[in-house]
Amino acid sequence: MKIAFFDTKDYDIPAFQKYGKEHGIAFTFYETRLGEDTAELARGYDGVCVFVNDDVSAPVVEKLYGLGVKVIALRCAGYNNVDVGACYGKIHVVRVPAYSPYAVAEHTMALLLTSVRRIHKAYNRTREFNFSLSGLTGFDLHGKTVGVVGTGKIGRIFIDICRGFGMHVVAYDKYPQEDAGIDYVPLDELFATSDVISLHCPLSEETYHLIGKESLALCKKGVIILNTSRGALIDAEALLEAIKQRRVGAACLDVYEEESDLFFRDFSGHIVEDDTLARLISMPNVIVTSHQAFLTEEALDAIAETTVANLVAFREGAPLGNELCYHCGRVEDCQKTRRPRCF
Ligand code: NAI
Repeated sequence: MKIAFFDTKDYDIPAFQKYGKEHGIAFTFYETRLGEDTAELARGYDGVCVFVNDDVSAPVVEKLYGLGVKVIALRCAGYNNVDVGACYGKIHVVRVPAYSPYAVAEHTMALLLTSVRRIHKAYNRTREFNFSLSGLTGFDLHGKTVGVVGTGKIGRIFIDICRGFGMHVVAYDKYPQEDAGIDYVPLDELFATSDVISLHCPLSEETYHLIGKESLALCKKGVIILNTSRGALIDAEALLEAIKQRRVGAACLDVYEEESDLFFRDFSGHIVEDDTLARLISMPNVIVTSHQAFLTEEALDAIAETTVANLVAFREGAPLGNELCYHCGRVEDCQKTRRPRCF
């Protein structure tokens, strides 16, 4: 089985080569992203393996289908970059629903602690033998209220971590987990009562710009916003404005709405055109990491193992437990309860 692997980074290769070799899957690693201009590279391949910022929109799907590609293997959990409707009946789509929710939840807490204890400032100071403590005053997380939006795999682990710090947790989820011991509140109440808000829900039409001008107006003055989920959950312009007005105390962003042209690449010698991102990064109370939350050894290994297992199942005509289609999640339409593949 031959797979064209797009948007390759050096850290992807060892685990995919290892599991690919064990299961007779040959990966060709392309640095370029998948898009309309690059889809042609998939000619002669059985499938493509893609990541969060590859373009798998309807025109790309049509091209891949025309080239004979039969399977799209996402090496991530989120799939907002894939037109699953366009794939239906043509190309099977598989994903890695969970690899290390701990990686993302722990990174979220790392960002929060860095921000409230000013570790990023202290690190730079002591490297220059500046041992002054001026301006480094933080605050205790103990006793503060954290509002968690999305109580799935990552959200629930983040809740456990926060409880370990003695924080009071409230949560909102469109599909609350009954009997999970979580204090669910309406979204407006979460905005109004939380000292820290952390986003762990998927990006959808409903959650697009969940944090925007209106919701920020409901928040406590000095609220800390954490986003390790998807960039477009936040209206970055509105966030910037609220930071400038001193209404948002800090923001920690591992994702950004316009990240696809920037993240995962080195622009240190270039002039970055995105003024909103540049202004956010210039703020002393904003920490940006470039979609790094997933990046642990355990997660990389699990991503490769599950992706290869998905491809083997596809090749062997076995049931595809990790297949996605536009019916997925719709209780009345979802086919997987009745048959082993979406189509
Ligand atoms: P999950 O599917 O286990 O949980 C998502 C939760 O969000 C579910 O409980 C669901 O009911 C809830 N939800 C769905 N629609 C909602 C809405 N409109 N409002 C509120 N809640 C809603 O997903 P998991 O594994 O916890 O991942 C969460 C998100 O984290 C993913 O969607 C992905 O975007 C992001 N992620 C980010 C990574 C990174 O490296 N920064 C890595 C992996 C995932």
